[in-house]
Parts: sequence; structure tokens; C-alpha cells
Amino acid sequence: MQTSEAIHPDKHAGTSVGGERGKIGAVRCVEQHTSYVALICEYATVLLQCVHAQILRVNILDGQEQRLDTTAAVLPDAFEAVRMSLTEDDAQLILATDAMTVVVERDDFALCVYDAQGALVTTLCEVVKVPGGQTDVRMKRDPADHFYGLGEKTGFLDKNGETYRMWNSDVYSPHVPEIKALYVSIPYVMHVHDGHTYALFLDHAGESVFDMQQHSDYYSVQTVKGDFDAYVIVGDSMIDVIREYTALTGRLHLPPAWSLGYHQSRYSYASQTEVMDLATSFREKGIPCDAIHLDIHYMDEYRVFTFDKQRFADPKGMVHTLMSQGFHVVPIVDPGVKRDPRYDIYQEGIAQDRFCKRIEGDVFLGAVWPGESGFPDFTDDATSVWWGEKHRFYTDMGISGIWNDMNEPAIFNESKTMDLDVMHRNHGHPKTHEELHNLYGMLMTKATYEGMRQLLGNQRPFLLTRAGYAGVQRYGAVWTGDNRSFWEHMEMAVPMVLNMGLSGVPFAGADIGGFAHDVSPELLVRWTQMGAFFPFFRNHSALGSVRQEPWSFGAQVEQICRKFIELRYRMMPYVYTLFYEASQVGMPVMRPLCLEYPQDERTSQLSDQFLLGRDLLVAPVFRPGVRKRMVYLPSGTWYNYWTDEEYTGEHYVLVDAPLDEMPLFVRSGAILPEYPVQSAVQFDCVSSLQFVIYGDPQEAVQSYVLYEDDGISFDHELGLYNELEVTYEATVDDGASVTYRYLQQGYLPAYRSRVFCFTRIRAVEQIAVEGFTCVTVEQLTSMSKGYAIDVDAGEVLVKLPADVMEARFVWRRQKS
Ligand code: GLC
Repeated sequence: MQTSEAIHPDKHAGTSVGGERGKIGAVRCVEQHTSYVALICEYATVLLQCVHAQILRVNILDGQEQRLDTTAAVLPDAFEAVRMSLTEDDAQLILATDAMTVVVERDDFALCVYDAQGALVTTLCEVVKVPGGQTDVRMKRDPADHFYGLGEKTGFLDKNGETYRMWNSDVYSPHVPEIKALYVSIPYVMHVHDGHTYALFLDHAGESVFDMQQHSDYYSVQTVKGDFDAYVIVGDSMIDVIREYTALTGRLHLPPAWSLGYHQSRYSYASQTEVMDLATSFREKGIPCDAIHLDIHYMDEYRVFTFDKQRFADPKGMVHTLMSQGFHVVPIVDPGVKRDPRYDIYQEGIAQDRFCKRIEGDVFLGAVWPGESGFPDFTDDATSVWWGEKHRFYTDMGISGIWNDMNEPAIFNESKTMDLDVMHRNHGHPKTHEELHNLYGMLMTKATYEGMRQLLGNQRPFLLTRAGYAGVQRYGAVWTGDNRSFWEHMEMAVPMVLNMGLSGVPFAGADIGGFAHDVSPELLVRWTQMGAFFPFFRNHSALGSVRQEPWSFGAQVEQICRKFIELRYRMMPYVYTLFYEASQVGMPVMRPLCLEYPQDERTSQLSDQFLLGRDLLVAPVFRPGVRKRMVYLPSGTWYNYWTDEEYTGEHYVLVDAPLDEMPLFVRSGAILPEYPVQSAVQFDCVSSLQFVIYGDPQEAVQSYVLYEDDGISFDHELGLYNELEVTYEATVDDGASVTYRYLQQGYLPAYRSRVFCFTRIRAVEQIAVEGFTCVTVEQLTSMSKGYAIDVDAGEVLVKLPADVMEARFVWRRQKS
């Protein structure tokens, strides 16, 4: 409980020293170094470095210090040698690259960034610094601007009017809008002003505050203590800015395809029998599922790298049987190592000096599930290697997925985390936990990922983490922690995960059905429908809450959940290709409409609907009893997935949403790849590939590039993957031509045929495909080449053998 002390004046007064109100003062001297320019101001030093043509680093340090180290967020080889010119006169100095110009006013250090066209991108109008304390940097803004990103935060999509704190926190109380800090901190904001976007990334692992609330003419970014090392990222669009930001902080490694399937979890499936029964139920009920998570009860008194011998008598046998049924097992691994002199991991940790310590030399012990525990110091490379290697315990059993939790680190004490004066070795430059707090979770995930990668050889690891910092996307998926089975939390998961995507983390999701509290049958239905379109798709619930496996509420709920889980599996090649795109250019998998339609102001705060990729528009239902909802369709033509109804975009439409349907729209011109539903994602067993082509051909060429590989190994890094391009365009005589060809061909898919399904087109019954024989839909299934017209479905199906590597075919409407 808080007392009046919470509003003590000391907590609110600006106590800066230095120039006028703590400003850093005039630029006294300019030094040009090989890779940066140092501006020695009256009360601080500012280092300016162009690390990419579109990225300016602004590093504000105390006194006359000059340091250019970064945190682990920034890729070691991210910086490019950028040509930049420096000119100066008495009033200004001007730095220029091909993509931007930076102008600094000498007398009060105001810094303006202009883009290649000369348009003003941003103005750092004031820098206030307390030596050894807070640094507060203010950027000009207009009240109507939009703010996105900021990682994992509650609230709506546009963060205008909000203040957030970056301090990784385990927050079990309901995730309400006023919560300023959650498990992941990504000190990164995208500022959209007058249609132009740039981003500011503050590379600071201690506490920081982003305030887009208090002032209408500027927003401020503050480090609570310590230096201010920021990157201003300029781009043509939000998409361009994300590409640049993820070039700096990294992109995800293509995850194993199975991890894009459905995951089932519970705190906890507490015995081998329970786990095996769960798996059997999925297969008997024909509900696809790829992963079963094991929460803390699998362990021997919560000792990491153990199984409880009574409840899990034969874990290796269990994992093997499950694998033969197509399941992957994902055990939880927390950072706390039980303080137990008889426990080998603890013994080793002490003997090899692996745990975080106080400066006086005593190991820091904090209480978590196993009781008092030591915490590995992941800022030390040798310790990270040691930790990674410990995962042999799991990989020897056939496990390739790990779930990292409690890695903020969460500790059951008053501050909820490690004491701030605990030291981290930090590669020979010791720092306090206060300075490095936000890095702990990501460094644990990095150690785990790298260890698993080493141990698994050519097999891709899957990693799930609760805590993280900028760059966490390189190691795996993030879930949004302990939400509740509230309709409001289902709704909030959308802007949360959308902003994660805009912050460089494309692989994210929320516990489907809600973690704590009791889910209702209707909420489970609606949440599963929505979850099928989230990048990470896991149902997880807390001990003591009602069961929420898909069959927990009878046949109707089970049937609807199955239908949507199946839909996810049918869309798998589409989803997988989106993950490939994310791995290449950082593009989010799940996208707010404003990313694809930035000129449309109606999309700027829209987060009760979203896009999966470019082509699918998803409009979940967020309230009980609701059977219709309003959907905004952006420009273009859209089709209701369920009814075929056609809509013209830039309109709000009211659509039916019976319990077994969630409003879903497909963009006209979309070419969507589909696989037959599998019980688990196994690309080597896919029997056919179908491209569903939506709408009448348009004059402009429409195209889609499908990405394919084996889904499990790193062979794609050696070129063993395909990029198959399909293009579709109108011909002059009321027909269409379709071409497909490999842009890259290095992988032999298992399927033997390719089907092109033309849907939502006029007068299907009049269509003839040149050079192909017309057969019935039934006959087509057993033929390798031909076409069929399904008048009832309004579709034309054209089939070719898969070994035809390149083809062009034309269909025309015959005059009746
Ligand atoms: C934390 C996690 C939750 C997990 C529980 C027990 O609360 O966020 O997902 O089930 O710990 O391990």
C-alpha cells in the first residue's frame, strides 16, 4: 500500500544543475574524429555519429567524456562507414549524409534533422542534464501527432497522451492502462508528424521514461540516471524506419515451422500421465497442435534442469512418444537456481563463480519458486556459455524448444527484482544492476538461444521469453505475460502485439483465453478465433482457474476452436512467408492498418482490427453476446471471407459475427497460398499447394512471392529454399494470365501438385483455360493436369504437376 510519501516533493522536483534550468549550454568546441564528431558543450559532451546513412547517433555524456560503447541491443557489425561532411560557422554546424542533414545551433544546442528532400524530420529542442543523474531530451511535437512502438505496453495503439516507464517488471495485478512498465522494455518510439515518420531509439538498459503526455509542444525522453545514447532513424515511411531499426538491432532467425502452429499450455500439466492424456485428446479429437508446454511442476522442487522423478518417471520416453505423434515439448526454464548445496547446478554455479554478486563478494540470493536462489550473471560470456551448455539436459531428450520466464528478473521481495547495487561483470566493465536491469532477460534468452543452437546442430531452436529489451527479436518469441480472462484483456492484446511488431518484435502473442481468472466458453471461442491470426498462438492458463483446453466447454466450443485452429494450419504457407519477410527486413507479421495505409487518418488509432500480412483483415469480437460488428475497410476492394460479399474500401461496414465466425476480409488481388490442414506442421508431408486468387484480374499486375524451405533446419542459410513468384493480370479479351516461376530454387517440396483457385470472379461458368482439359471437380483430384469449374463455390480450379517449374497459362471468358 502506498502512503502520502508517494507524492513527496523530492520525487517530483527537477533538481538539475548546470546552465539555465540544467541545459547543457552552448557548444564550446567541435572535434572531428574518424567516425564521429564531438561537440564539447558547457556542461556536457555530445557525440554525433552517422551509423547508417539514415541513422544518426546522439550520445550525450557527462563532462568531457567520449565513449561509444553500446548495449547488446545493437548488433556489433551494424555500423557502416558513412560518408558525412561537416561545415561550421559561428552560429551553426552542419553534418550531412546522402540521406539526412543535421543542423546544430551553437548557442543553445538545438539540433534539427532534415531528410534528403530537405523536410524537417525532428528538432531536439532542449537537453537538460544532471551530472551523474537524469538526462532529459525534448523533441518538438504537435498535439495531433501520433506515437507508436514503445514495445510491450498497455493502452491503445497511438501512444499520444501517454507516459511510459522502461523498467522490466513482473506485474501480476491486472494489466490496466495505468501500468507504466511491464516485462519487456523497448525504449523506442516512432513519431508521426504530418505524414512523416522517424524513430528514436534510446539505448539505455537502466530506467527511462517516455512522456508523450504532459506537454503539447514537445515530448520528452529521459534517462532516470546516466548517459543518454540515442539513435534518430529517418525513413520514407514507417516500413522504411522499421527496416532501418531492425538493421541496427537485428531481426528474428526464421523459427522452426512447428512453432507457428498451435501451442497448449497450463500452469501446470503436472505429470507424465496428464501430458500424455492431453496429447491423446488432441489427436483423438482431430485438433491440430504442435507444442505442449511444461510449466514449473515438471521440475524436482523447481530446480532448473531436472524432472521430478515421481511425476515424470521417464521424461525421455515421454518426449519421444510425443514427437512420434507430432508434438514438441517446451519446458519452462527460469533463471533462479535453487540454493541447495546438494544440487549440482548450484554447486557448479558457486564453484565456478557464475552468480551475480554484491561488490563485497557475497552471492546475491533472491526468493523465487524454488525458494532462495542464485542468479547467473549473463553479462559474463563464460557464464552464458555455461548456462547454454546446461540445456544439453533437454536436447538429449529430443527437446528443441525452451520457455524462459521470470527473467526480468522477478524476485519475491519488495522491489520485485534484484537489488540495485548487485554487480554485473559486464565483460570486464562492471556495472550495477540498476544500470543494466533491462538487459537481464534478453541476455538470458541470448545465452539460451546460442546454447541451444550449438547443441542442436542443424536443427532450429524455438525460444519463448517473458522479459526482453531492444533486440530480443533475434532470439525468439515474446508473450505478454500474466493477463487475465477478461474481455478487456483480449481487446488490449491487439494494440500490445501490434506495437511490439512496430518495435521490431514480430513473433509475439498473448495467453489465449487469459492466464489468470476463469475463462467463459464464449471468451475462449472469441479469443481462439483471434489468436489464430496472432504471430504466436498459445493457450495458457493459471493453476486454480477453470480448464481452458479447446474441449473444456462441450461440443460447440470445441468445434469452433477446431475450425479456427485448422484455419491457421491451412494458412501456414502464408504465415511462414510472413515470418521469412520479418527475418529479412523486419516487417511485422501482424500489422496495424496505419502501417499499410499511412495516408488514411482513419487508421491511425485503429486497433480493434488488424492485418495479418498485407492481405487478411481480421476483426475480432471483443464483447459477449455481440453478433455483429463494425469494420473499417481501407482503400481497395475487399471480400468477406465467409460470405463472398464484395465491399469497396474506405468505408465502415456492419457485418455479421455469429459465434462460429469472426469477421475476416481478404484484399482483392490477394494470392493466398494454402496447405491442407495437418495435425502438426510437417512440411515434408504436405500433399498439395493451393494458391487462392481473389477477385477479377486487374490491369495492374498482382504478384505474390511464396517462401518455402524444410521448416526445421538451417539449410535455408545455404540457399536451400524457394521463392516462387506468382503473377496475375488481366488480358485485353476479358481473361487473365497467370505466370509462376522460381526466383530462387533450392528446396524440393513434398507436394506433387499445385492448384490455382480463382475465386470471387465474375461468370465462372464461362471460363475456359487454354491448353487444359475441362473435367469435374472430383475428376480433377485424381488428375495431374486439368481444370474444373465449381459453380456452387464460384471457383475455377487449375491444376498442374509440381514438377512443372515455370508456367504461364491464360483463361478467358467464353461468350454464352
Ligand atoms: C509466471 C508466468 C506464467 C507461469 C507462472 C508459473 O507467472 O508468467 O506464465 O505459468 O509464472 O511458472
